[in-house]
Amino acid sequence: MYMALPDHVDPREWIERWDRMQEACLVDRGERLDLIAELLAVSQPEDALVVDLGCGTGSLSHAVLERMPGATVVGIDVDPTLLPLAEARLEPYGERARVIQADLRQAGWPGQIGRGARGAVSATALHWLDRAELARVYRQAGGLLEPGGILLNADPVRSEHPDIHRYRAEWEHELLGESEAAWRSFWDGYLAVLGPDAARERQRALRAWRGDDEGYPLEWHFEAMRASGLGGLDCFWRRGPDAVIGGIKQPDAGGKDRARKRMKAKPTPAW
Ligand SMILES: C[S@@+](CC[C@H](N)C(=O)[O-])C[C@H]1O[C@@H](n2cnc3c(N)ncnc32)[C@H](O)[C@@H]1O
Repeated sequence: MYMALPDHVDPREWIERWDRMQEACLVDRGERLDLIAELLAVSQPEDALVVDLGCGTGSLSHAVLERMPGATVVGIDVDPTLLPLAEARLEPYGERARVIQADLRQAGWPGQIGRGARGAVSATALHWLDRAELARVYRQAGGLLEPGGILLNADPVRSEHPDIHRYRAEWEHELLGESEAAWRSFWDGYLAVLGPDAARERQRALRAWRGDDEGYPLEWHFEAMRASGLGGLDCFWRRGPDAVIGGIKQPDAGGKDRARKRMKAKPTPAW
């Protein structure tokens, strides 16, 4: 269970500070969140169930709920200190929004979602996983999605050419300056107001970092997505090292084969 905010902490202040901090760390952050919401809206039913993987304080979930007034969103995050901020941000949406504390590195999280999802989305979170963990999360997300559902992931994507990768990273660094300092300043301030146990609880939940800040190559993502039952793979947006990538859950090939066999097994009508 994630923590409750102490009475003296105003969630609105820290939600606002989170968004400013993330904007300081990412070029055109808002554009990628809006694009994910837009792609969901144009491709999925109005009452879609959407899962936000690594929801943090709920920024992407919020963009989806605003763009799709009939949709329901489930936000998942491991961090017990960010989920109360997500809960506060999404509270105006009532039963259309729910947040769950779960670790995407562990097997059980899809069981907490319920009915089949039409969207699995994520912003700046999945590079916190190593390749084997992320490949498994893609498979789990592919398993959760109904055929026609969509996976959309906004995250850094590394170029396999080191010079191109360096060029993109330097371009971003020039635009943003010292984004590390913004991240540190948010966390120093927030953990200080939460009190001494918060940092320990957070550390216990996060465990050892095995991700890669620079992300994984596009081709690697596409292979892992294809192996998860997704097709129509695409890079929908790109700024320097960051991209929005994803694909569409294909009809179950095994299911089609089974249906074909059932048809073949039907007795020939005797006319
Ligand atoms: C940079 S934040 C982005 C949060 C949010 N998506 C946004 O755009 O503001 C990365 C998030 O991923 C979450 N995360 C990282 N590893 C995770 C894991 N194994 N399971 C669940 N959440 C995870 C972190 O706790 C954090 O909230």
